[in-house]
Amino acid sequence: MNVPLRNTSFWRVDSQDPDREQLRAAAELLRAGGAVAFPTETVYGLGADARRTDAVARIFEAKGRPSDNPLIVHISDLAQLAELTLPLAAEGAGALADRLMDRFWPGPLTIVLPVKPGAVSARVTAGLDTVAVRMPAHPVALALIAESGCPLAAPSANRSGRPSPTLAAHVRGDLSGRIDGIVDGGAAGVGLESTVVEVVDGGTVRILRPGGVTAEDLQEAGATVVYDAVAAPEAAEDAAAGQAPRSPGMKYAHYAPQGQMQLVKGEPGAVADWINAAVRRARESGERTGVLAFAEHAARYDADCVLVVGSLARLDTAAHGLYTSLREFDAQGVQRIWAETCPEQGIGHALMNRLAKAAGHAVVRV
Ligand code: TXA
Ligand code: MG
Repeated sequence: MNVPLRNTSFWRVDSQDPDREQLRAAAELLRAGGAVAFPTETVYGLGADARRTDAVARIFEAKGRPSDNPLIVHISDLAQLAELTLPLAAEGAGALADRLMDRFWPGPLTIVLPVKPGAVSARVTAGLDTVAVRMPAHPVALALIAESGCPLAAPSANRSGRPSPTLAAHVRGDLSGRIDGIVDGGAAGVGLESTVVEVVDGGTVRILRPGGVTAEDLQEAGATVVYDAVAAPEAAEDAAAGQAPRSPGMKYAHYAPQGQMQLVKGEPGAVADWINAAVRRARESGERTGVLAFAEHAARYDADCVLVVGSLARLDTAAHGLYTSLREFDAQGVQRIWAETCPEQGIGHALMNRLAKAAGHAVVRV
């Protein structure tokens, strides 16, 4: 799509203690219907006033996002919720939703709730009767939302199909000249997007997209966790073929690096032998090769580009590093990529979900 060239303003702010004056110009652009990227504790978001269809249209246009993929609305204050949503119908569900907000907000948990008719543009909900809401745990995001006075619809601030941005430089690379501004508040924290859930009843939540708040976290908060088919731990390998996801975005092949990627599961020594043999064959046919490995195993690999995603002993570091690594393979022109895998526990579940999507669900067991 041909997007008219825009003048993209750039502000560098302190991530922990952003100066209100500096945020004022960005907030003004948002109030005027502009699209402005900002840091959150998960990834950078591209925000616009959720109530204005002209503003929200800018997001879809800049990203090249399919219009049937609804957006998350970001709030800075619980008082905004009553303007956006209606009570949940199921007995006790409202009380559980309140408990989750109390426990995990601000934070990387997005809750799908019944939308109040007319409260947000129909482009935000893609015509659904629900709206996904979260309160981000990032001082810059919270201050910007508060300063703008708008509930902000904000998808990840990448071109559709690219890895989500964890640095302002990624946003610049993808969206400069296509959006009105970028607020640079340093590196995003978690590195993977928020967990998207719906509240089924007074005791149960369904994970639609795994993310920064883990199933274990939700269970500790007293909820029984069930999964939408595409978000289940075992879904990495079979892409839950044929099932329509309850979170429309899950059906898109997001996060794909330009090179062809395959995940290799098995005992670490066997995985390294298999990958090194595959690398040799690919090199013989002139391809540029890459391996995405955990720090504990990286020295075993011999490829043109071996990247350490993080440590197996600290999977949060791998979550933090994943998208930067995928972008680095692209920057180095890698054509074939093999990636190690990790147990789908804690943040490992979201990590494997994103890795499997990046690989188009190509997984081999050795
Ligand atoms: O961490 C995050 O969630 C980041 C930051 C910027 O907050 N945002 C983000 O947005 O990842 P996006 O647009 O890339 O992903 C939104 C996801 C999609 O999978 C979408 O289908 C789902 O949330 N979603 C939005 N509204 C929904 C709804 N009403 N029902 C079900 N799923 C919904
Ligand atoms: Mg996204």
